[in-house]
Amino acid sequence: MATTERQPPSSVEGSSPSRPTMFHRLSDNAIDESSDADSDFVKLQKTISKERREARESPQARLQRACPFTFHPNIRPLSKSDYESCIALENAAFPDPAHRATPEKASSPYANMGSVFCTVVPEKAKNWTIETLDTAKPVETDRPNGAKSVLVAHIVATRCTGNTITDKDMDYPKDWRTRRGRSADVGHQESGRTVALHSMAVAPKLHGCGIGQMIIKAYLQQMKDAQVADRVALICQDYLVTYYERLGFKCIGKSPVEFGGGGWHDMVSRTS
Ligand SMILES: CC(C)(COP(=O)(O)OP(=O)(O)OC[C@H]1O[C@@H](n2cnc3c(N)ncnc32)[C@H](O)[C@@H]1OP(=O)(O)O)[C@@H](O)C(=O)NCCC(=O)NCCS
Repeated sequence: MATTERQPPSSVEGSSPSRPTMFHRLSDNAIDESSDADSDFVKLQKTISKERREARESPQARLQRACPFTFHPNIRPLSKSDYESCIALENAAFPDPAHRATPEKASSPYANMGSVFCTVVPEKAKNWTIETLDTAKPVETDRPNGAKSVLVAHIVATRCTGNTITDKDMDYPKDWRTRRGRSADVGHQESGRTVALHSMAVAPKLHGCGIGQMIIKAYLQQMKDAQVADRVALICQDYLVTYYERLGFKCIGKSPVEFGGGGWHDMVSRTS
């Protein structure tokens, strides 16, 4: 991503006596190879040019490249039958296992989740693969084309009582299977007016295609419409602060949360 700021080494800029001025980058698409420039330099220029063109690619173009068939997103809450796909997506999206929502958390009955699925017809997606394909369920069991509903992004969240997220909120009661809705001092708080977003994940193959923005915008709108909370809070590492700010979140400052090794920032978006 930082490649747009990369420059060729200064010694090979046009004014250098060792380089003829006719050797320069003509445009991002055309490299002048007619000079006596060495092949390493031409190769470097080509790489820079290619990276610049790729960096300028629109999210739609990236999506088309990543998904060589018509992409029809279907935004809906996750159900129990999506659990395996949800785990597969967490594992694929978070390289650091400490940052993943654990299977227990993801399957907790309190988890309030949103998701984006896309329909994949095997005949039209030959050799196309994604980490959640194996666990995808048929769109309808008797569809002759065998279309599957494939999870490509999800949000896992609970509710908490504070304005920002704490380690207790990030936790879950270990006996949740037998608690049957009784309140606990960690994890989901039914009376909480803050949605605590534990995980937002997009399948790596589809990063940068606008799907993250789509799911979070839809989720915030849903929270506003339902009026079940006053705000949505999340914690993120510093490289994602701007990303969430662009989506309407405000950075409150460094978070004391130690989950996954710490280093988080508190981000909040009001929904009321
Ligand atoms: C973070 C994440 C959810 C973003 O979703 P996405 O669909 O890839 O992002 P979008 O297409 O909506 O937005 C793309 C823009 O966001 C920014 N962005 C996305 N991911 C970024 C990252 N990891 N670092 C820096 N910027 C990032 C880019 O500036 C990009 O802008 P560009 O189009 O100008 O290049 C996704 O990359 C992901 O699942 N990451 C792994 C899990 C994770 O870290 N989740 C967040 C937990 S708080």
